[in-house]
Amino acid sequence: MDKILILDFGSQYTQLIGRRVREIGVYAEILPGDAALDARALAGAKGVILSGSPRSCYESGAPRPDPALFGAGLPVLGLCYGIQLMTADFGGRVERLSEREYGRKAVSLTAAAAGERLLAGAAASFSSWMSHGDSIAAPAPGFEVLAVSEGGIPAALRDTKRRLWGLQFHPEVSHCEGGTRILENFVVGICGAAREWSMEAYLEEVGERVRAKVGSGEALLLISGGVDSTVAGALLLKILPKDKVHLLYIDTGLMRKAESEEVMRNLRALGATHLRKADAEPEFLAALAGAEDPEEKRRIIGDLFIKVQEREVARLGIPEAFLAQGTLYTDLIESGKGVGTKAQVIKSHHNVRSPLVEAKRAAGRVIEPLDRLYKDEVRALGRLLGVSEEVVRRHPFPGPGLGVRILGEVTKERCDILREADAIYIEELKRRGLYDRIWQAFSVLLPLRSVGVAGDERKYGSVLALRAVVSEDGMTADVYPFEADDLLAISSAITNKVGEIGRVVYDVSSKPPATIEWE
Ligand code: XMP
Repeated sequence: MDKILILDFGSQYTQLIGRRVREIGVYAEILPGDAALDARALAGAKGVILSGSPRSCYESGAPRPDPALFGAGLPVLGLCYGIQLMTADFGGRVERLSEREYGRKAVSLTAAAAGERLLAGAAASFSSWMSHGDSIAAPAPGFEVLAVSEGGIPAALRDTKRRLWGLQFHPEVSHCEGGTRILENFVVGICGAAREWSMEAYLEEVGERVRAKVGSGEALLLISGGVDSTVAGALLLKILPKDKVHLLYIDTGLMRKAESEEVMRNLRALGATHLRKADAEPEFLAALAGAEDPEEKRRIIGDLFIKVQEREVARLGIPEAFLAQGTLYTDLIESGKGVGTKAQVIKSHHNVRSPLVEAKRAAGRVIEPLDRLYKDEVRALGRLLGVSEEVVRRHPFPGPGLGVRILGEVTKERCDILREADAIYIEELKRRGLYDRIWQAFSVLLPLRSVGVAGDERKYGSVLALRAVVSEDGMTADVYPFEADDLLAISSAITNKVGEIGRVVYDVSSKPPATIEWE
């Protein structure tokens, strides 16, 4: 399959570049910036994108690509640090700006841009997204300036002879006007990469890969109730004989309303024969009794999860089974390191390094069938495999579940109150067509009682906080700006139906400085 190689020099946007190229329909692979560009790395590559970086290209020890890059005959597009690096290497000058250029900035095309394929379809002046402290003071010989920023800084460059292009701005960021078109111009127009990447193609490839590894053996997957593990389960049921797939769901009692049932129903409908649900709710609630400190609660949940997991897996009596994990592409890449150096990172349930997973990994018996996919691709794959919309569209949920959304002590009663209230909140969002516009919405039960009136009496009820954020990846998040009418109606629906809740508040904090979750 044709691919675009992305060399990662540590930019916060590297993942976004990968996602955008995939959205265009071309397979994108991210490698550490200094990865050896041997025959294996270059197989199928039609072009290379150099990411940005928090570093300066003139610093000693600044990350550099394998020198083989410029002899490989492939078109190269440098973004931000990427073009600065090429400028410095080919004899131009890069300097620190007196003031960092950040945010939406207008960019204007120069006369040299006429007929330039990279900028085909771009307006004469458009709003780009900048984020740089260094800039090109003098382009390297052979480079022409195709666009400049308001401050006269080179914003787009080209060296036709060497087939090198560069942008000082970030076309991958959604705020950049026409950014995806520019990337498409490079990937398809200039590199000529075929749009061969689809979930159907992935299904075929991963099927062969997993069958080759598992052979006639068995696979075990721990289902968490989230999108990733459910899709991983559906995938295993599709690519392996159904009676070789063991699915284990540990019900901690800390899940959202009807969540466990929905996931079990889905997997059964997809043909799961060895599907077991272990009811561990009483154990979790007993262990959490009296615990109020957030870190202590997380520790209790994590430790108990490991214990229950070991016990329940042992009960299945399949010690040789391959352990499947719902690891995603983003889990394998830590900015600046890239796939390969961090490939051992484990996304274990509840974010704990469980001895079971470690032992399976040491024995080479872990399979990660989603490890090339981004979250939105997992959703698309889930749809292709017949996982319900309910599960596929579900917002992310933290491993420790309601344990970190009930502030203070976690009891069965408080779990039930929160589940009821949260189900109403989510239902209202769906009914109003808002659910899919929000990246993550949930309710938090506060450890407070506040006064209210019920008839003639003063009544002390619980306080519920609503959270709704928009985000690309959870690293940063903005508050969802509800219309006041929606918020008021949601609040009334909750207090009318859940008697224990006397007051509803809306969390208007972005991340940073707040986190998305409250604990
Ligand atoms: P924060 O609260 O750190 O959350 O801004 C960012 C994203 O991560 C999720 N989250 C967790 N996920 N285990 C998880 O699997 C956890 O302990 C955990 N804590 C937070 C959170 O829901 C949000 O999507």
